[in-house]
Amino acid sequence: MAIRYIEKKQIFQMDTKHSTYLIGLTTEGYVGHIYYGKRLKKEGNHYLLRTKEAPYTPSVYEREKMVFMDFFPFEYPSGGVGDYRESCLDVRGEKGNIGCEFFFQSYQIYKGKAALSGLPASFGTEKEVETLEITCEDPILKLNVVLSYSVFESCDIITRSVRIENRGTEHLKLEKVYSACLDMDNREFEMVTLTGSWARERYIQRNPIHFGKQLVSSTRGESSHQEHPFLALVTKNTTQETGEVYAMNFVYSGNFIAQAEENQFGQVRMVMGIHSNYFCWNLKQGESFQAPEVVLTYSDQGLGQMTHQFHDFYRNHLIRSPYQFRKRPILINNWEATYFDFNSEKLLEIAKEAKKAGIEMLVMDDGWFGKRNFDDNSLGDWTVNTKKITSGLLDLVTKVKELGMEFGIWFEPEMISPDSELYRTHPDWAIQIAGRRPTMCRAQYVLDLSRPEVVEYAYQCVAEILRSAPISYVKWDMNRQLCDIGSSYLDSESQGELMHRYVLGLYQMQERLVTEFPNLLLENCSGGGARFDAGMLYYSPQIWCSDDTDAIERLRIQEGTALIYPLATIGAHISDCPNHIVGRNTPFETRGHIALAGTFGYELDITKITEEERKMIPKQVAMCHKYQSLMQRGDYYRLVSWNEKKPYDCWEVVAKDQSEVLVTFVQVLAQPNMHSRVIYLQGLEECAEYQLEGTQEVYTGEELMQCGYLIPSILSSDKKGDYQSHLYHFLRK
Ligand code: GLA
Repeated sequence: MAIRYIEKKQIFQMDTKHSTYLIGLTTEGYVGHIYYGKRLKKEGNHYLLRTKEAPYTPSVYEREKMVFMDFFPFEYPSGGVGDYRESCLDVRGEKGNIGCEFFFQSYQIYKGKAALSGLPASFGTEKEVETLEITCEDPILKLNVVLSYSVFESCDIITRSVRIENRGTEHLKLEKVYSACLDMDNREFEMVTLTGSWARERYIQRNPIHFGKQLVSSTRGESSHQEHPFLALVTKNTTQETGEVYAMNFVYSGNFIAQAEENQFGQVRMVMGIHSNYFCWNLKQGESFQAPEVVLTYSDQGLGQMTHQFHDFYRNHLIRSPYQFRKRPILINNWEATYFDFNSEKLLEIAKEAKKAGIEMLVMDDGWFGKRNFDDNSLGDWTVNTKKITSGLLDLVTKVKELGMEFGIWFEPEMISPDSELYRTHPDWAIQIAGRRPTMCRAQYVLDLSRPEVVEYAYQCVAEILRSAPISYVKWDMNRQLCDIGSSYLDSESQGELMHRYVLGLYQMQERLVTEFPNLLLENCSGGGARFDAGMLYYSPQIWCSDDTDAIERLRIQEGTALIYPLATIGAHISDCPNHIVGRNTPFETRGHIALAGTFGYELDITKITEEERKMIPKQVAMCHKYQSLMQRGDYYRLVSWNEKKPYDCWEVVAKDQSEVLVTFVQVLAQPNMHSRVIYLQGLEECAEYQLEGTQEVYTGEELMQCGYLIPSILSSDKKGDYQSHLYHFLRK
C-alpha cells in the first residue's frame, strides 16, 4: 500500500521504495506539508507542522493569523490572505479582488491514475501506481482545489497535478495556477537548473540558494532554448553519487516557472507551474481547469540516482511510442547537406549512396513545399513543390523505398509565412495584437492555435501528405517563439487564455497524429532543442536536441539533456566538418561515438565527404546496431565531465542485468606526456568478472568501481590531436 490516511494523526503518508511524503491537516483544515525525503520505516508524525509553537494556528490564536499564514508549510498556497511567499493560486472574483483560502474537505485513494484531459501525463497500471486526491474548498467562493498525487512506488516518483473547480455562482478569473509546491527548511541547498540559448541548449548551472526568489522561466510560448522546466534543490557538496536531491520536472511545453524562494525564517518554497505572465483563465460557474503535471523525485544518492529515476520513469510511464524500445532506423537528413538547394534527383543520389553504407532512412527536410527556396515564404502552403520534387512525392517515396530505405519528411505546422497563400487568404489566423504589426522572427508568424479551424487546417495539411505516400517518419519543427499575444478569435475577456490554448491545440494535433498514424516515428524539434521537454515526449519518443551538431559542443548539450531525459530521446547526428555552426574539425570517429549517446543518424552530403569517411560509415552503422538496445534500455552514468573543466569527458551505460557496460571516453584536449587515467566505473556487479572486449584483460566489478579502470593515453602515432575518443566495452564472464 503506497498511500494511507492515518486518521488519528490526520496524516496522509505516501511511500515509494526509497522515499516518504507526508501531508498533515490542522484542526482548521489547512493542508500542510510535513516531510519529503528518505523513506521512513515507521509511521510519520505531525510535529513538523510546528502547530504547537508560535505562530499558533488561527483557531488557537486568531489575533496573529497573518504570522501563521506567512510561516505555515502549505501543500498548495493561495494568494491574498496573508502568506507573502509565492502563491500557487491567484483567483479574482467578480468584485475584482484577489484572495482565497482553502480548507480540507475530503479525500480519495485509488489504484491507478486518471488521464489529464487534453494534456500529456504519465500513466501506469493499477499495480504500478496509486493516486491520492485531496479536495479542498474555499467556502466563500465555493471554489474547489483537487490536489492529486500519484505514487509510482517502484520508480521513486510522485507526480502532482491540480484541478480547480468552480462550484459557486461567480465568474472567476484564475490569474495564476501552479502545479506543485514544496515547503522545506533550507539545508544549505543549491539549485541545479538547465540554461542556454539557440545552439547551446541545457547547460547545467548550479548556484547556492540565497535569500529571496531565484527562478528559471519561459514566457516564450514554449519551454525554450534559454531556460528549462526543471529544478533540483541539492544539499551542499552533492555529487553524482552522494547527497540529497529534490527535483521537479514539468510535463508541459509552454510558458513555465520553476522557482526557489528563501524567506525570513530560512524556509525554502519550491514551486513549478504555468507562468502567470500573459495568463488569465476564465472559470465560469460549473467549469474546471486542469493544471499540467509535475514529476517529483527524491534521491539520497546524488544526481546520478535522480537521473536513473527520471530515465526509467519516462521510458516506462510517459513515452508511448511503439519505437520506445524498438530499433530505430538510422537516418540521413538532407538539411546540412543541401539546405534549401535540392530536388528529387539530389535526394535520390544521397539515398543511393547512403543505402550502400547501410543507412536505413532518408529524411527530406525543409524546402519541399510551396515555393520555398529560402526561409522567408510558404509556411502554411503544404503542397509539394513539383519544380523540386519533379515527379511528385509518391514517386520519390516509392523510389526511396525501392532502394530498401524508409522515407521521412519535415513539417513546421504551427507557422505561417506572411508570403504564403495561407496568409493572403487568412491574415487573421496569425497570432497578433489587433492594429499592431506582429513582430517578425525568421520571417514568419505563428498560427493562432486557439482557433479550432486553424488546428483542423494545420492537422489536415500534415495528415494529407502522410495519407498520400508511405512515409515512416515526421520531423515536427517550430522555428520561432511567440509574442504579440493576441487572437482575433478569442473575445477580449479571453485573451489571457491564448498561450495555454496554443499548447493545448498543439497537443491535440499531435494526439490525432499518433492516433491516425500509430506506426509513425515522430521526432519533435524547435529551432534545434527549444521544445525538448517531458510534454513533447508523450507524443514523440525522440526530440532534436540542438542545431549545434558539433561533437564537442554536443558533449555539454547532451550531458545537460541526459541529466533528465533518456539517451534514446536525444536526437543526435554525425555532420560534416568544418562544422557549419562553430567551424570546428573533429575526427569522424569521435562524431560517431558522441552521436551514439543519442538517436544516431547522419546529416551531411554523403556524396561529397571523403572516401575515407564514407568507408567508416558501415562500421559506425554496425556499432549503432550493436549498442542501440543497450543505449535504449541501460542505466546511464556520468563519470567525468569536461563541463567541469576536465580535459576529458566520460560516461557509461550499464545493462539492467549488469552483464555489460559501454564506456565512452573523449580526450577533448590533447595533453602531452600524460600517463593513463583512473576512471571509476559504476553500477556493476561487485564480484562478477568483466572482460574488456577485444583483449584478454579481466577485472572484477569491484576493481573497476573501487580501484578504477586505467584508461591508457588514447593518443598514439595514428591518433593525435584534440577531440579523440574511444569506446570500452566490458562483458561479464
Ligand atoms: C530548424 C531545425 C533544423 C532544420 C531547420 C529547417 O532550425 O532545427 O534541423 O530542420 O529548422 O528550416
